[in-house]
Amino acid sequence: MLQAYGGAGGRGRATVTVDRASPYGGWVHELQRGAEVPDALGPYLDVDRARPRHECWVTGHMVAGLDGTAAVGGRVGSLSTAPDRSLFPRMRQIADVVLVGAETVRREGYGPIRLTDQAREQRRRRGMSPTPPVAVVSRSLDFDWTAKVFADAPEDARTHIITCEAADPVRRAEAEEVAVVMVAGGDRVEPTAALRALAELEHRVVLCEGGPTWLGELVAADRLDELCLSISPLMGGDPLPVAVTPPGTGLVGFDLQNAMAEGSTLFLRYERQPKDGEESG
Ligand SMILES: NC(=O)c1ccc[n+]([C@@H]2O[C@H](COP(=O)([O-])OP(=O)(O)OC[C@H]3O[C@@H](n4cnc5c(N)ncnc54)[C@H](OP(=O)(O)O)[C@@H]3O)[C@@H](O)[C@H]2O)c1
Repeated sequence: MLQAYGGAGGRGRATVTVDRASPYGGWVHELQRGAEVPDALGPYLDVDRARPRHECWVTGHMVAGLDGTAAVGGRVGSLSTAPDRSLFPRMRQIADVVLVGAETVRREGYGPIRLTDQAREQRRRRGMSPTPPVAVVSRSLDFDWTAKVFADAPEDARTHIITCEAADPVRRAEAEEVAVVMVAGGDRVEPTAALRALAELEHRVVLCEGGPTWLGELVAADRLDELCLSISPLMGGDPLPVAVTPPGTGLVGFDLQNAMAEGSTLFLRYERQPKDGEESG
């Protein structure tokens, strides 16, 4: 049974809160199990992502253990609970493009996005393309070009590769045979240039499925607008947090907008906290 937790943030699906005076002077909202949510995807579909701070809205979707780990034995599979596994592919319905780091594509054996007929129809009604393409970020371009993420992509959602000028020209020519290749940066892919290039292709909602290194680059560039984080009731696994930010990265604040639970899996949705002088979305 999927239940909402109440009271988090202004736009959350608040159901039940118990306010207690905080010793620090404000109010503490105790989140209690509230109304049943018929479909975990519903609150994510309802989010208004039409007015991003920049040319596109960037949502991260990740799963973590209780200790923040993002993988077990180099894979995410055993970290993901049944409720998370059920939500993960469906979340792609929100996206104009699914953005992912190369190592995740290699390790997880990514394929093209597959949505149900119903999801595709809902997207059409919202004026979206039926299927979001995958966009892979890579400097090395060290891929098996016969992999399904390239070979099986439909013609209307060809896989994109976002690379940089320093990429090997032979591999780049190979990439151009199987994918839409975009160059966004000199020695490395610059997150802002990558997102600008995606927006130029009318990709306005970018769903980033990691991995931690690429997500950390987006955080460091302050381009993560929303984080949908599933918390699995597990500890242990690899010493790899959900985002690995480059050294010297400052902190970016987020506000909790939704909280739901199914069994012991928690689904949290945060949006980047507006800074002083910035308008909230
Ligand atoms: N818990 C979760 O939700 C979740 C989600 C996704 C992945 N994972 C796990 O995370 C692990 C993989 O993550 P990861 O952090 O190692 O890798 P990653 O972020 O998926 O990919 C890193 C690779 O992306 C490319 N890249 C990243 N930033 C770049 C930049 N600025 N310019 C050019 N290329 C750039 C590079 O590819 P090249 O090497 O090709 O140059 C780099 O090696 C796996 O164990 C996977 O199972 C967990």
